[in-house]
Amino acid sequence: MMKVAIIGTGYVGLPTGVGLAELGNKVVCVDKIEDKINRLNRGELTLYEDGLEELFKKNVANGMLRFTTNTQTAVKDADIVMLAVGTPPHPLTKEADLKYIYAAAKELAPFLNGYTVVATKSTVPVGTGDEVENIIRQTNPKADFDVVSLPEFLREGFAIHDFFNPDRIVIGTQNDKAQKIMLELYKPFVGKSEFLCVKRRSSETIKYASNAFLAMKIHYINEMADFCEKAGADITEVAKGMGLDSRIGKKFLNPGPGYGGSCFPKDTNAMAQMGKKYGAHLTLIETTIAENDARKIKIGQRVIEAINEHPEGKIAVLGLAFKGGTDDCRESPAIDIIKEMIRYSRNIMVYDPKALENAKTILNNTVHYANSVEEACMNAEVMVILTEWEDFRHLNLTKLKKIMHCPKIIDMRNMLNGEDVKTLGFEYQCVGKKVI
Ligand code: UDX
Repeated sequence: MMKVAIIGTGYVGLPTGVGLAELGNKVVCVDKIEDKINRLNRGELTLYEDGLEELFKKNVANGMLRFTTNTQTAVKDADIVMLAVGTPPHPLTKEADLKYIYAAAKELAPFLNGYTVVATKSTVPVGTGDEVENIIRQTNPKADFDVVSLPEFLREGFAIHDFFNPDRIVIGTQNDKAQKIMLELYKPFVGKSEFLCVKRRSSETIKYASNAFLAMKIHYINEMADFCEKAGADITEVAKGMGLDSRIGKKFLNPGPGYGGSCFPKDTNAMAQMGKKYGAHLTLIETTIAENDARKIKIGQRVIEAINEHPEGKIAVLGLAFKGGTDDCRESPAIDIIKEMIRYSRNIMVYDPKALENAKTILNNTVHYANSVEEACMNAEVMVILTEWEDFRHLNLTKLKKIMHCPKIIDMRNMLNGEDVKTLGFEYQCVGKKVI
Protein backbone atom coordinates (compact mmCIF):
# COMPACT_ATOMS: atom_id res chain seq x y z
CA MET A 1 0.00 0.00 0.00
CA MET A 2 1.26 3.47 -0.89
CA LYS A 3 0.11 6.86 0.26
CA VAL A 4 -0.75 8.98 -2.76
CA ALA A 5 -1.76 12.64 -2.95
CA ILE A 6 -3.34 13.78 -6.22
CA ILE A 7 -3.43 17.50 -6.99
CA GLY A 8 -6.36 18.31 -9.29
CA THR A 9 -9.67 16.40 -9.38
CA GLY A 10 -10.67 16.76 -13.03
CA TYR A 11 -11.05 14.17 -15.80
CA VAL A 12 -7.55 12.83 -15.07
CA GLY A 13 -7.15 13.27 -11.31
CA LEU A 14 -10.49 11.91 -10.13
CA PRO A 15 -10.61 8.61 -12.08
CA THR A 16 -6.89 8.07 -11.30
CA GLY A 17 -7.51 8.67 -7.58
CA VAL A 18 -10.47 6.32 -7.51
CA GLY A 19 -8.54 3.68 -9.49
CA LEU A 20 -5.46 3.85 -7.23
CA ALA A 21 -7.65 3.59 -4.12
CA GLU A 22 -9.35 0.53 -5.60
CA LEU A 23 -5.90 -1.01 -6.09
CA GLY A 24 -5.36 -0.74 -2.33
CA ASN A 25 -3.57 2.59 -1.92
CA LYS A 26 -4.48 5.35 0.51
CA VAL A 27 -5.39 8.30 -1.70
CA VAL A 28 -6.07 11.95 -0.92
CA CYS A 29 -7.36 14.13 -3.76
CA VAL A 30 -6.75 17.85 -3.48
CA ASP A 31 -8.47 20.66 -5.33
CA LYS A 32 -8.52 24.43 -4.93
CA ILE A 33 -12.21 24.66 -5.78
CA GLU A 34 -13.95 24.36 -2.44
CA ASP A 35 -17.36 23.64 -3.92
CA LYS A 36 -15.97 20.64 -5.80
CA ILE A 37 -14.37 19.19 -2.68
CA ASN A 38 -17.54 19.80 -0.65
CA ARG A 39 -19.60 17.95 -3.23
CA LEU A 40 -17.14 15.06 -3.35
CA ASN A 41 -17.13 14.90 0.44
CA ARG A 42 -20.94 14.72 0.36
CA GLY A 43 -20.60 11.67 -1.89
CA GLU A 44 -21.56 13.55 -5.07
CA LEU A 45 -19.51 12.95 -8.21
CA THR A 46 -18.38 16.07 -10.06
CA LEU A 47 -18.09 14.43 -13.46
CA TYR A 48 -19.66 11.45 -15.19
CA GLU A 49 -17.58 8.42 -16.11
CA ASP A 50 -18.96 4.96 -16.68
CA GLY A 51 -18.29 2.77 -13.62
CA LEU A 52 -16.79 5.62 -11.56
CA GLU A 53 -19.60 6.08 -9.04
CA GLU A 54 -19.58 2.58 -7.62
CA LEU A 55 -15.81 2.53 -7.04
CA PHE A 56 -15.85 6.11 -5.71
CA LYS A 57 -18.52 5.29 -3.10
CA LYS A 58 -16.88 2.02 -2.11
CA ASN A 59 -13.45 3.54 -1.54
CA VAL A 60 -14.75 6.59 0.31
CA ALA A 61 -16.75 4.27 2.57
CA ASN A 62 -13.75 2.06 3.36
CA GLY A 63 -11.51 5.05 4.07
CA MET A 64 -9.10 4.54 1.16
CA LEU A 65 -10.14 7.75 -0.61
CA ARG A 66 -10.63 11.23 0.76
CA PHE A 67 -10.86 14.78 -0.51
CA THR A 68 -9.47 18.04 0.79
CA THR A 69 -8.60 21.59 -0.19
CA ASN A 70 -5.60 21.48 2.11
CA THR A 71 -2.39 20.73 0.21
CA GLN A 72 -0.32 20.48 3.37
CA THR A 73 -2.26 17.65 5.03
CA ALA A 74 -2.34 15.70 1.77
CA VAL A 75 1.32 16.12 0.86
CA LYS A 76 3.07 15.71 4.20
CA ASP A 77 2.25 12.00 4.51
CA ALA A 78 2.47 11.09 0.82
CA ASP A 79 4.97 8.67 -0.73
CA ILE A 80 3.87 9.92 -4.15
CA VAL A 81 2.38 13.28 -5.12
CA MET A 82 0.72 13.31 -8.55
CA LEU A 83 0.16 16.53 -10.45
CA ALA A 84 -3.09 16.26 -12.39
CA VAL A 85 -4.00 19.92 -12.87
CA GLY A 86 -5.12 21.38 -16.19
CA THR A 87 -2.73 22.54 -18.92
CA PRO A 88 -5.18 24.49 -21.10
CA PRO A 89 -4.01 26.01 -24.38
CA HIS A 90 -2.77 29.57 -24.07
CA PRO A 91 -5.37 31.65 -25.95
CA LEU A 92 -2.77 33.44 -28.07
CA THR A 93 0.21 31.13 -28.54
CA LYS A 94 -1.77 27.84 -28.29
CA GLU A 95 1.12 26.46 -26.26
CA ALA A 96 0.15 24.48 -23.16
CA ASP A 97 -0.27 26.98 -20.34
CA LEU A 98 1.77 25.72 -17.40
CA LYS A 99 0.76 28.22 -14.77
CA TYR A 100 -1.34 25.71 -12.79
CA ILE A 101 1.43 23.09 -12.82
CA TYR A 102 4.07 25.55 -11.67
CA ALA A 103 1.76 27.02 -9.00
CA ALA A 104 1.01 23.51 -7.70
CA ALA A 105 4.73 22.64 -7.59
CA LYS A 106 5.46 25.80 -5.63
CA GLU A 107 2.58 25.21 -3.26
CA LEU A 108 3.39 21.59 -2.44
CA ALA A 109 7.16 22.03 -2.10
CA PRO A 110 7.29 23.25 1.54
CA PHE A 111 5.26 20.26 2.74
CA LEU A 112 7.35 17.45 1.26
CA ASN A 113 8.31 15.27 4.17
CA GLY A 114 10.75 12.39 3.73
CA TYR A 115 11.60 11.00 0.29
CA THR A 116 8.71 11.70 -2.11
CA VAL A 117 8.14 11.05 -5.80
CA VAL A 118 6.44 13.94 -7.57
CA ALA A 119 4.82 12.46 -10.67
CA THR A 120 3.41 14.62 -13.45
CA LYS A 121 0.18 13.14 -14.85
CA SER A 122 -0.95 16.28 -16.65
CA THR A 123 0.03 16.48 -20.32
CA VAL A 124 3.02 18.81 -20.28
CA PRO A 125 5.53 19.97 -22.87
CA VAL A 126 8.99 18.50 -23.01
CA GLY A 127 11.20 19.96 -20.33
CA THR A 128 8.40 20.71 -17.85
CA GLY A 129 9.75 18.06 -15.47
CA ASP A 130 13.04 19.98 -15.28
CA GLU A 131 11.18 23.18 -14.44
CA VAL A 132 8.99 21.50 -11.79
CA GLU A 133 12.17 20.11 -10.25
CA ASN A 134 13.78 23.57 -10.20
CA ILE A 135 10.73 25.19 -8.64
CA ILE A 136 10.52 22.61 -5.85
CA ARG A 137 14.27 22.82 -5.19
CA GLN A 138 14.23 26.62 -5.05
CA THR A 139 11.16 26.71 -2.80
CA ASN A 140 12.39 24.00 -0.45
CA PRO A 141 16.14 23.38 -0.79
CA LYS A 142 15.98 20.64 1.85
CA ALA A 143 13.32 18.57 0.14
CA ASP A 144 14.21 14.96 -0.69
CA PHE A 145 12.34 14.18 -3.91
CA ASP A 146 12.46 13.17 -7.56
CA VAL A 147 10.24 14.33 -10.40
CA VAL A 148 8.88 11.63 -12.70
CA SER A 149 6.83 11.98 -15.88
CA LEU A 150 3.84 9.63 -15.73
CA PRO A 151 1.69 10.32 -18.80
CA GLU A 152 -1.85 9.03 -18.81
CA PHE A 153 -3.82 7.79 -21.76
CA LEU A 154 -7.38 7.64 -20.38
CA ARG A 155 -10.17 8.30 -22.85
CA GLU A 156 -13.16 10.30 -21.72
CA GLY A 157 -16.14 8.04 -21.12
CA PHE A 158 -13.83 5.03 -20.77
CA ALA A 159 -11.54 6.37 -18.04
CA ILE A 160 -12.25 3.58 -15.55
CA HIS A 161 -12.00 0.87 -18.19
CA ASP A 162 -8.73 2.37 -19.47
CA PHE A 163 -7.32 2.79 -15.95
CA PHE A 164 -7.69 -0.93 -15.24
CA ASN A 165 -6.70 -2.06 -18.75
CA PRO A 166 -3.78 0.13 -19.83
CA ASP A 167 -1.93 -0.79 -23.03
CA ARG A 168 1.24 0.54 -21.43
CA ILE A 169 2.52 2.25 -18.32
CA VAL A 170 5.18 4.81 -19.16
CA ILE A 171 7.49 5.90 -16.34
CA GLY A 172 9.78 8.78 -17.23
CA THR A 173 12.76 8.86 -14.92
CA GLN A 174 16.32 7.63 -14.89
CA ASN A 175 16.43 7.59 -11.12
CA ASP A 176 16.39 4.04 -9.71
CA LYS A 177 14.76 4.91 -6.41
CA ALA A 178 11.87 6.79 -8.03
CA GLN A 179 11.48 4.07 -10.67
CA LYS A 180 11.22 1.37 -8.00
CA ILE A 181 8.45 3.24 -6.20
CA MET A 182 6.46 3.76 -9.38
CA LEU A 183 6.88 0.11 -10.36
CA GLU A 184 5.60 -0.88 -6.91
CA LEU A 185 2.54 1.36 -7.34
CA TYR A 186 1.68 -0.25 -10.68
CA LYS A 187 2.58 -3.80 -9.59
CA PRO A 188 -1.02 -5.03 -10.04
CA PHE A 189 -0.56 -4.53 -13.80
CA VAL A 190 2.54 -6.69 -14.10
CA GLY A 191 1.88 -9.36 -16.73
CA LYS A 192 -1.23 -7.51 -17.96
CA SER A 193 0.34 -4.40 -19.42
CA GLU A 194 3.63 -3.26 -20.97
CA PHE A 195 5.96 -1.27 -18.71
CA LEU A 196 8.28 1.26 -20.24
CA CYS A 197 10.91 3.06 -18.15
CA VAL A 198 12.43 5.88 -20.18
CA LYS A 199 14.08 9.28 -19.93
CA ARG A 200 11.78 11.95 -18.52
CA ARG A 201 11.90 13.94 -21.77
CA SER A 202 11.05 10.84 -23.81
CA SER A 203 8.09 10.14 -21.58
CA GLU A 204 6.81 13.71 -21.97
CA THR A 205 7.18 13.36 -25.74
CA ILE A 206 5.44 9.95 -25.87
CA LYS A 207 2.15 11.46 -24.72
CA TYR A 208 2.14 14.21 -27.35
CA ALA A 209 3.53 12.01 -30.09
CA SER A 210 0.80 9.41 -29.44
CA ASN A 211 -2.09 11.87 -29.44
CA ALA A 212 -0.76 13.70 -32.50
CA PHE A 213 -0.36 10.38 -34.32
CA LEU A 214 -3.96 9.38 -33.55
CA ALA A 215 -5.18 12.80 -34.70
CA MET A 216 -3.22 12.35 -37.93
CA LYS A 217 -4.70 8.87 -38.37
CA ILE A 218 -8.19 10.38 -38.15
CA HIS A 219 -7.22 13.15 -40.55
CA TYR A 220 -5.82 10.55 -42.94
CA ILE A 221 -8.99 8.47 -42.99
CA ASN A 222 -11.08 11.63 -43.41
CA GLU A 223 -8.97 12.67 -46.39
CA MET A 224 -9.23 9.16 -47.79
CA ALA A 225 -13.01 9.34 -47.30
CA ASP A 226 -13.16 12.53 -49.39
CA PHE A 227 -11.14 10.74 -52.06
CA CYS A 228 -13.45 7.70 -52.01
CA GLU A 229 -16.51 9.92 -52.41
CA LYS A 230 -15.05 11.42 -55.59
CA ALA A 231 -13.50 8.21 -56.93
CA GLY A 232 -16.53 5.96 -56.43
CA ALA A 233 -14.92 3.82 -53.73
CA ASP A 234 -16.45 3.04 -50.32
CA ILE A 235 -14.48 4.21 -47.26
CA THR A 236 -15.99 1.53 -45.01
CA GLU A 237 -14.58 -1.17 -47.28
CA VAL A 238 -11.29 0.68 -47.71
CA ALA A 239 -10.83 1.20 -43.94
CA LYS A 240 -11.61 -2.46 -43.31
CA GLY A 241 -9.06 -3.54 -45.88
CA MET A 242 -6.43 -1.20 -44.46
CA GLY A 243 -7.13 -2.16 -40.84
CA LEU A 244 -6.59 -5.85 -41.49
CA ASP A 245 -2.91 -5.05 -41.92
CA SER A 246 -1.71 -5.40 -38.33
CA ARG A 247 0.89 -2.69 -38.97
CA ILE A 248 -1.96 -0.23 -39.57
CA GLY A 249 -4.54 -1.60 -37.10
CA LYS A 250 -8.32 -1.37 -37.17
CA LYS A 251 -8.83 1.35 -34.59
CA PHE A 252 -9.19 5.07 -35.28
CA LEU A 253 -10.14 4.54 -38.90
CA ASN A 254 -13.69 5.87 -38.60
CA PRO A 255 -14.20 8.87 -40.87
CA GLY A 256 -16.33 11.71 -39.54
CA PRO A 257 -16.63 15.45 -39.08
CA GLY A 258 -13.06 15.79 -37.75
CA TYR A 259 -11.55 15.11 -34.35
CA GLY A 260 -12.39 17.21 -31.28
CA GLY A 261 -12.40 17.04 -27.50
CA SER A 262 -10.23 18.40 -24.76
CA CYS A 263 -7.08 16.53 -25.85
CA PHE A 264 -6.42 16.14 -29.58
CA PRO A 265 -6.90 19.79 -30.62
CA LYS A 266 -4.93 21.03 -27.60
CA ASP A 267 -2.15 18.48 -27.87
CA THR A 268 -1.62 18.76 -31.63
CA ASN A 269 -1.36 22.54 -31.29
CA ALA A 270 1.04 22.28 -28.37
CA MET A 271 3.18 19.72 -30.21
CA ALA A 272 3.33 21.94 -33.33
CA GLN A 273 4.41 24.87 -31.13
CA MET A 274 7.09 22.71 -29.52
CA GLY A 275 8.36 21.77 -32.97
CA LYS A 276 8.73 25.47 -33.81
CA LYS A 277 10.40 26.15 -30.48
CA TYR A 278 13.04 23.50 -31.06
CA GLY A 279 13.45 24.38 -34.75
CA ALA A 280 12.12 20.97 -35.83
CA HIS A 281 8.97 21.80 -37.78
CA LEU A 282 6.31 19.13 -37.50
CA THR A 283 4.74 19.65 -40.88
CA LEU A 284 2.43 16.62 -40.79
CA ILE A 285 0.94 17.80 -37.51
CA GLU A 286 0.64 21.39 -38.77
CA THR A 287 -1.24 20.18 -41.85
CA THR A 288 -3.48 17.95 -39.76
CA ILE A 289 -4.50 20.90 -37.56
CA ALA A 290 -5.24 23.17 -40.53
CA GLU A 291 -7.16 20.52 -42.47
CA ASN A 292 -9.17 19.38 -39.45
CA ASP A 293 -10.27 23.00 -38.95
CA ALA A 294 -11.05 23.45 -42.65
CA ARG A 295 -13.11 20.23 -42.68
CA LYS A 296 -15.63 21.61 -40.21
CA ILE A 297 -16.17 24.74 -42.33
CA LYS A 298 -16.66 22.59 -45.44
CA ILE A 299 -19.23 20.42 -43.66
CA GLY A 300 -21.12 23.50 -42.47
CA GLN A 301 -21.24 24.72 -46.06
CA ARG A 302 -22.30 21.30 -47.32
CA VAL A 303 -25.36 21.46 -45.09
CA ILE A 304 -26.19 24.97 -46.22
CA GLU A 305 -25.91 23.85 -49.86
CA ALA A 306 -28.30 20.99 -49.13
CA ILE A 307 -31.06 23.50 -48.28
CA ASN A 308 -30.29 25.92 -51.10
CA GLU A 309 -33.79 25.49 -52.53
CA HIS A 310 -35.28 26.57 -49.19
CA PRO A 311 -32.60 28.74 -47.56
CA GLU A 312 -35.04 29.73 -44.79
CA GLY A 313 -35.80 26.09 -44.06
CA LYS A 314 -35.13 24.39 -40.76
CA ILE A 315 -31.90 22.47 -40.14
CA ALA A 316 -32.13 19.67 -37.57
CA VAL A 317 -28.81 18.79 -35.93
CA LEU A 318 -28.50 15.50 -34.04
CA GLY A 319 -25.43 15.37 -31.78
CA LEU A 320 -23.43 18.14 -30.11
CA ALA A 321 -20.88 16.32 -27.94
CA PHE A 322 -17.38 15.82 -29.38
CA LYS A 323 -18.00 12.07 -29.44
CA GLY A 324 -20.71 9.67 -28.32
CA GLY A 325 -20.93 8.65 -24.66
CA THR A 326 -20.02 12.02 -23.14
CA ASP A 327 -21.70 15.35 -22.41
CA ASP A 328 -18.45 17.18 -23.21
CA CYS A 329 -18.68 19.82 -25.95
CA ARG A 330 -15.13 21.17 -25.65
CA GLU A 331 -13.71 21.63 -29.16
CA SER A 332 -16.59 19.57 -30.48
CA PRO A 333 -16.64 19.47 -34.29
CA ALA A 334 -20.45 19.67 -34.07
CA ILE A 335 -20.20 23.06 -32.39
CA ASP A 336 -17.78 24.46 -34.99
CA ILE A 337 -19.93 23.13 -37.83
CA ILE A 338 -23.00 24.77 -36.29
CA LYS A 339 -21.07 28.03 -35.87
CA GLU A 340 -20.37 27.98 -39.62
CA MET A 341 -24.04 27.28 -40.41
CA ILE A 342 -25.18 30.12 -38.15
CA ARG A 343 -23.53 32.54 -40.58
CA TYR A 344 -26.23 31.59 -43.12
CA SER A 345 -29.17 30.33 -41.10
CA ARG A 346 -31.09 31.34 -37.99
CA ASN A 347 -33.36 28.33 -38.26
CA ILE A 348 -31.27 25.58 -36.67
CA MET A 349 -32.66 23.23 -34.03
CA VAL A 350 -30.24 20.99 -32.16
CA TYR A 351 -30.62 17.85 -30.07
CA ASP A 352 -28.21 15.74 -28.03
CA PRO A 353 -29.14 13.08 -25.47
CA LYS A 354 -26.58 14.33 -22.90
CA ALA A 355 -24.81 17.49 -24.04
CA LEU A 356 -27.62 20.04 -24.42
CA GLU A 357 -26.80 21.97 -21.25
CA ASN A 358 -23.10 22.23 -22.08
CA ALA A 359 -23.88 23.26 -25.66
CA LYS A 360 -26.19 26.02 -24.42
CA THR A 361 -23.30 27.71 -22.65
CA ILE A 362 -21.45 27.94 -25.98
CA LEU A 363 -24.18 28.46 -28.57
CA ASN A 364 -26.55 30.52 -26.38
CA ASN A 365 -29.55 31.75 -28.34
CA THR A 366 -28.01 31.36 -31.80
CA VAL A 367 -29.88 28.06 -32.23
CA HIS A 368 -33.08 26.43 -30.92
CA TYR A 369 -32.88 23.48 -28.54
CA ALA A 370 -35.00 20.35 -28.84
CA ASN A 371 -35.79 17.77 -26.19
CA SER A 372 -36.15 14.91 -28.63
CA VAL A 373 -35.12 13.79 -32.11
CA GLU A 374 -38.73 14.27 -33.24
CA GLU A 375 -38.89 17.85 -31.99
CA ALA A 376 -35.63 18.67 -33.80
CA CYS A 377 -36.78 17.06 -37.05
CA MET A 378 -40.33 18.44 -37.11
CA ASN A 379 -40.74 20.34 -40.44
CA ALA A 380 -36.99 20.20 -41.09
CA GLU A 381 -35.47 20.56 -44.56
CA VAL A 382 -32.54 18.40 -43.59
CA MET A 383 -31.34 16.26 -40.68
CA VAL A 384 -27.61 16.28 -39.94
CA ILE A 385 -25.97 13.68 -37.68
CA LEU A 386 -22.76 14.97 -36.08
CA THR A 387 -22.13 12.77 -33.00
CA GLU A 388 -22.12 8.98 -32.92
CA TRP A 389 -24.74 8.30 -30.23
CA GLU A 390 -25.93 4.68 -30.32
CA ASP A 391 -29.55 5.93 -30.18
CA PHE A 392 -29.09 7.50 -33.61
CA ARG A 393 -28.55 4.06 -35.16
CA HIS A 394 -32.12 3.14 -34.25
CA LEU A 395 -34.06 6.20 -35.39
CA ASN A 396 -37.69 5.65 -36.36
CA LEU A 397 -37.10 6.82 -39.91
CA THR A 398 -40.60 6.01 -41.15
CA LYS A 399 -42.01 8.39 -38.56
CA LEU A 400 -39.32 11.03 -39.16
CA LYS A 401 -40.03 11.02 -42.89
CA LYS A 402 -43.64 11.91 -42.17
CA ILE A 403 -42.78 14.85 -39.92
CA MET A 404 -39.86 16.31 -41.89
CA HIS A 405 -40.61 18.92 -44.56
CA CYS A 406 -38.06 17.37 -46.85
CA PRO A 407 -36.69 13.81 -46.44
CA LYS A 408 -33.01 14.62 -46.53
CA ILE A 409 -30.26 13.25 -44.25
CA ILE A 410 -26.57 14.16 -44.00
CA ASP A 411 -24.95 11.50 -41.85
CA MET A 412 -21.44 12.68 -40.94
CA ARG A 413 -20.78 9.64 -38.70
CA ASN A 414 -21.99 6.92 -41.08
CA MET A 415 -24.48 5.77 -38.46
CA LEU A 416 -27.30 4.69 -40.74
CA ASN A 417 -27.66 1.95 -43.31
CA GLY A 418 -27.64 3.95 -46.53
CA GLU A 419 -29.58 1.41 -48.59
CA ASP A 420 -32.38 1.22 -46.00
CA VAL A 421 -32.57 5.00 -45.75
CA LYS A 422 -32.79 5.34 -49.53
CA THR A 423 -35.44 2.63 -49.76
CA LEU A 424 -37.56 4.63 -47.35
CA GLY A 425 -37.37 7.52 -49.80
CA PHE A 426 -34.81 9.78 -48.15
CA GLU A 427 -32.12 11.68 -49.99
CA TYR A 428 -28.99 10.51 -48.18
CA GLN A 429 -25.41 11.72 -47.96
CA CYS A 430 -22.76 10.18 -45.71
CA VAL A 431 -18.96 10.21 -45.43
CA GLY A 432 -16.70 8.55 -47.98
CA LYS A 433 -19.20 6.79 -50.21
CA LYS A 434 -22.14 7.43 -52.46
CA VAL A 435 -25.24 5.41 -51.71
CA ILE A 436 -27.04 4.80 -54.99
C1 UDX B 1 -8.00 11.01 -26.39
C2 UDX B 1 -7.04 9.81 -26.43
O1 UDX B 1 -7.68 8.71 -27.12
C3 UDX B 1 -6.64 9.40 -25.01
O2 UDX B 1 -5.67 8.36 -25.08
C4 UDX B 1 -6.02 10.64 -24.32
O3 UDX B 1 -5.65 10.33 -22.98
C5 UDX B 1 -7.03 11.78 -24.31
O4 UDX B 1 -7.40 12.07 -25.67
P1 UDX B 1 -10.59 11.41 -25.92
O5 UDX B 1 -10.34 12.87 -26.12
O6 UDX B 1 -11.43 10.97 -24.77
O7 UDX B 1 -9.22 10.60 -25.77
O8 UDX B 1 -11.32 10.93 -27.26
P2 UDX B 1 -11.11 9.82 -28.39
O9 UDX B 1 -12.04 8.69 -28.14
O10 UDX B 1 -9.71 9.48 -28.61
O11 UDX B 1 -11.67 10.64 -29.67
C6 UDX B 1 -11.13 11.92 -30.02
C7 UDX B 1 -11.84 12.51 -31.22
O12 UDX B 1 -11.54 11.78 -32.40
C8 UDX B 1 -13.37 12.53 -31.13
O13 UDX B 1 -13.85 13.74 -31.66
C9 UDX B 1 -13.79 11.34 -31.98
O14 UDX B 1 -15.09 11.45 -32.50
C10 UDX B 1 -12.73 11.39 -33.07
N1 UDX B 1 -12.51 10.10 -33.74
C11 UDX B 1 -11.96 9.06 -33.06
C12 UDX B 1 -12.84 9.95 -35.08
O15 UDX B 1 -13.34 10.89 -35.73
N2 UDX B 1 -12.58 8.75 -35.70
C13 UDX B 1 -12.04 7.69 -35.05
O16 UDX B 1 -11.83 6.65 -35.68
C14 UDX B 1 -11.71 7.85 -33.68
